[in-house]
Amino acid sequence: MTEPINLADYEALAAERLPVMVRDYYASGALDERTLRDNLAAWRQIRLRHRVLRGVGQRSTATTLLGAPLQLPLGIAPMAFQAMAHPEGERATARAAAEAGALMVLSTMSNHPVEAVAVPGAPLWFQLYVYRDRGLTRALVQRAEAAGCQALVFTVDAPVLGTRERDRRNRFHLPEGLEMGNLIDHLRQLRPGDDDSGLAAYVHELVDPDLTWETLDWLRAHTTLPVLLKGVAHPDDAREALDRGAAGVIVSNHGGRQLDGGVPTAELLPAVAAAVGERGVVMVDGGIRRGGDILRALALGADAALVGRPALWGLAVDGQVGVTRVLDILRRELDETMALCGCRDLSEVTAALLG
Ligand code: FNR
Ligand code: LAC
Repeated sequence: MTEPINLADYEALAAERLPVMVRDYYASGALDERTLRDNLAAWRQIRLRHRVLRGVGQRSTATTLLGAPLQLPLGIAPMAFQAMAHPEGERATARAAAEAGALMVLSTMSNHPVEAVAVPGAPLWFQLYVYRDRGLTRALVQRAEAAGCQALVFTVDAPVLGTRERDRRNRFHLPEGLEMGNLIDHLRQLRPGDDDSGLAAYVHELVDPDLTWETLDWLRAHTTLPVLLKGVAHPDDAREALDRGAAGVIVSNHGGRQLDGGVPTAELLPAVAAAVGERGVVMVDGGIRRGGDILRALALGADAALVGRPALWGLAVDGQVGVTRVLDILRRELDETMALCGCRDLSEVTAALLG
């Protein structure tokens, strides 16, 4: 292939370069992967009705999120084990996000520890898995705070891990030499499961399947950081989250890796955004593959979007430079879509553009 020019090119190049076990882990959805496919298709079905003669010669994609200025309304979704794509892993992803003026969300299950990922002055949020061991969970929160993270993203759509059949067949595990840098002692390791994905076995043993709304209260009592719930699909859950003091919600189905056959996020977003209104931040992820999808997300009521797998493809192809290129492609496509819709800045991206 000549120079990759879109995210699909990066996907194809990454697939050539990654070992099968890694490629499958990154690409997988749960079971029949219906939600994985439906997420992508749903953005394509949202059509836009453009406006004309609006003097779009000067444009800005800038915004602010929880008070932090961003150059574009985009973040990198939390994704585990990025050093399988490139040795610099999450450090490279975070540097590329910082350079682009995008948000970085770091997974609890990152290879590099949060202290090594934080880029001074750049927005970094920490995604939290609540372990059965609450002492350990509190220690994770304290580390994220001390490292300068500005918000916690509490993932709520994974009380158990969705079955990814490819990982089960591959007995997915961390390659030799890689560990989970935020954890201590034996919890850093991810070994092949007996007849199963090593991640499935790890989550089953260690992550708490019995989380409730009181867990959110508990978390809020143990942090001064704003808490966002990731994995919200229903407007009533969004309302409850805000009532209990969450700073916002992320409409997500985990990129189709959890409940298979769920409603795609582009379809879930409007009702959740309406339920939250001005009370908090609303974000969305799942299947964003063109800059125009980010504009669609904003028109449907989101304040910003997150992109997942495409960052891993960029990382696999060219480390930090690859992630930079992926973010730049999204920025350019968003800017072009804004111009063609007649929008000079993001305040002009509204539901009036929906076809
Ligand atoms: C994820 N996701 C995820 N979410 C989370 O809250 N904590 C995590 O550790 C992970 N890990 C993870 C690993 C990999 C390889 C993928 C692909 C995804 C879900 C992620 O944050 C996000 O919701 C989806 O990836 C968004 O969908 P797209 O953009 O990948 O389609
Ligand atoms: C995943 C977990 C780690 O989706 O969130 O693989």
